[in-house]
Amino acid sequence: MAEGFLPFSPGFATKAIHAGQKPEQWSSNAVVPPISLSTTFKQIAPGKHKGFEYSRSGNPTRNVLEECIASLDGAKHGLVFSTGLGALVAVINHFKAGDHVVSVDDVYGGTGRYLTEVGEKFGVETTYVDASDIEKFKAAIRPNTKLVWLESPTNPTLKVLDIKKIAEIAHKHKDIIVVVDNTFLTSYFQRPLELGADIVMYSLTKYMNGHSDVVMGALCTNRDDLHESLRYLQNALGIVPSPFDCYLVNRGLKTLSLRMKQHMSNSLKVAHFLESHPLVIKVIHPGLPSHPQYEISRKQSSGCSGMLSFYMGNKDGKPATLEESTKFLQSLKIFSLAESLGGYESLAELPSIMTHASVPPERRELLGINDSLIRVSVGLEEADDLCNDLDRALKAAFA
Ligand SMILES: Cc1ncc(COP(=O)(O)O)c(C=O)c1O
Repeated sequence: MAEGFLPFSPGFATKAIHAGQKPEQWSSNAVVPPISLSTTFKQIAPGKHKGFEYSRSGNPTRNVLEECIASLDGAKHGLVFSTGLGALVAVINHFKAGDHVVSVDDVYGGTGRYLTEVGEKFGVETTYVDASDIEKFKAAIRPNTKLVWLESPTNPTLKVLDIKKIAEIAHKHKDIIVVVDNTFLTSYFQRPLELGADIVMYSLTKYMNGHSDVVMGALCTNRDDLHESLRYLQNALGIVPSPFDCYLVNRGLKTLSLRMKQHMSNSLKVAHFLESHPLVIKVIHPGLPSHPQYEISRKQSSGCSGMLSFYMGNKDGKPATLEESTKFLQSLKIFSLAESLGGYESLAELPSIMTHASVPPERRELLGINDSLIRVSVGLEEADDLCNDLDRALKAAFA
């Protein structure tokens, strides 16, 4: 158990290795689930089959992964999608024109882009709100609100939301569904369904797969009605992943608990190091006592991932210019300057120009996403090597 945080879910690592993997389900008794590449399945009589007809509507390798992912969230149902955004598309297609969404304000850029630029074209309007302010959240709910979309911690400013409190308020209104994007923490560190959410969503592209070689998404729920609708949409919209990618994510899950523990340990070391660095103005990491929602983080999660953000500045505390931030990022030798997160390798990026470029400039300004804000995904290398790399690049940026 990470000190001061919620206890871990019992049996997590065992489920990650065994749930959905029974060798007896294959005639070969293979211990590693085979990759079923067939697009179609022989029927016994027209319409009579052994559970599979066509790979878009169901595939044996995908089934294994869906069962394993659901078990990690303690969920009744799991569904996987071609991408994380594909999972969002399925959720939005569950609603109809005239329905309203309340979304956390610093939501992942691609999520905001879909909600605003695509969803609104089809009549689903979104209001963005700082959901860490409960009064503001309450005020954003309208009579036609049908969906509350949360991310916690948020991306890239790592705000932590009180999921339980928000879900309780939302559920006072008939028909509101609460979804939590749990990409940053994974089911190992946070289990939103147990906190009152109706659906938990993942970009499996990140920590869940953990090897930066698959793009995929997932939704888990305990509600039969939602599962039925989302399963229908998974097939009807055609947003399914390949069996090979399902095999890879299933393999990645086997080491999820080990990886997450090490991501947490490494990111805390890096966060403490940066907090004492003269060329860093502020560090944002939910495991630091200086984090504004440190207590909420410990109350609702079992730990922290490898994600942290920081504002860099010169010795006099003047925020870095775009040129200085760029020089810093180009001077890194172990961290790669790249988008994405959650892999074994360390990455660093500039959200204002990269992951959050699609956020309108006035909202970026409001959220503090400026040219001195660096987002880091701390990987599994030696923490001392990572600190030395950051130190050298910071000095080079202001030389
Ligand atoms: C928090 C979060 N949610 C959703 C997504 C979208 O997932 P994908 O890239 O797998 O479509 C991302 C991608 O970066 C993300 O960081």
